[in-house]
Amino acid sequence: MSDKITIAVSKGRIYDEAVPLLAKLGIVLIDDPNKSRKLILDTNQANIKILIIRATDVPTYVERGAAELGIAGKDVLMEYSGDSLYEPVDLGIAKCRMMLAGLKDAKPVTDRPRVVTKYTNITRNYFADRGQQVEIIKLYGSMELGPVLGLSDWIVDLVDTGNTLKANGLVTLDHIADISSRLIVNKAAMKMKNALIKPIITQLSDIVENNGS
Ligand code: ATP
Ligand code: PRP
Repeated sequence: MSDKITIAVSKGRIYDEAVPLLAKLGIVLIDDPNKSRKLILDTNQANIKILIIRATDVPTYVERGAAELGIAGKDVLMEYSGDSLYEPVDLGIAKCRMMLAGLKDAKPVTDRPRVVTKYTNITRNYFADRGQQVEIIKLYGSMELGPVLGLSDWIVDLVDTGNTLKANGLVTLDHIADISSRLIVNKAAMKMKNALIKPIITQLSDIVENNGS
């Protein structure tokens, strides 16, 4: 059995909040993704590497065993269609809310409101649960522009401070889910590399329970 562990993380918010958590486990990054173009980063532990990939790709790498562990937002996991990942720890980082939002002074919506989102599966399930017909339009960013430019009636997107909604004249209409990032684990690795992975899960759970200390 190989004793190597690769942890898939996305650059940006999750990386920034994950680094201090990993340091508490004694895993310290040697390379800095903000200064280097390397995508596989070395740590102070020879058998532990950090993979820097797109946030939405993290579940794919972990489910297929290209990385044993990953850190992914609950939004990405809810949207992901695979079902063979363990999700043992809510790390309580990159917290925000998945919200339905619309223009502040919107006219009443039509029979089949249009919704822009990059979360098409979450949006489809949310409206199906309510028995409401909608037209879902996929965008990859700046969803807030949808209602402003008449592309849609509503958006489904992440909200943290609410500044982006407010700056674009939008208000929240419904709370869909609370979001935070989770540790995810490849199922086969959980069995085959349990001696390495179990202590990481236990220590991360302890750190999170003690509010990061
Ligand atoms: P990519 O740049 O690869 O398209 P992304 O834009 O979703 O991905 P980030 O903006 O870094 O990447 O978001 C990563 C994760 O952080 C999201 O999946 C979500 O869980 C969380 N997140 C996104 N926006 C916010 C926010 N405004 N506040 C807090 N957490 C957020
Ligand atoms: C996210 C999200 C919102 C914004 C919400 O975008 O898609 O636009 O944050 O945060 P707020 O409520 O604190 O304003 P992000 O900054 O990640 O930009 P991008 O996904 O479009 O790159």
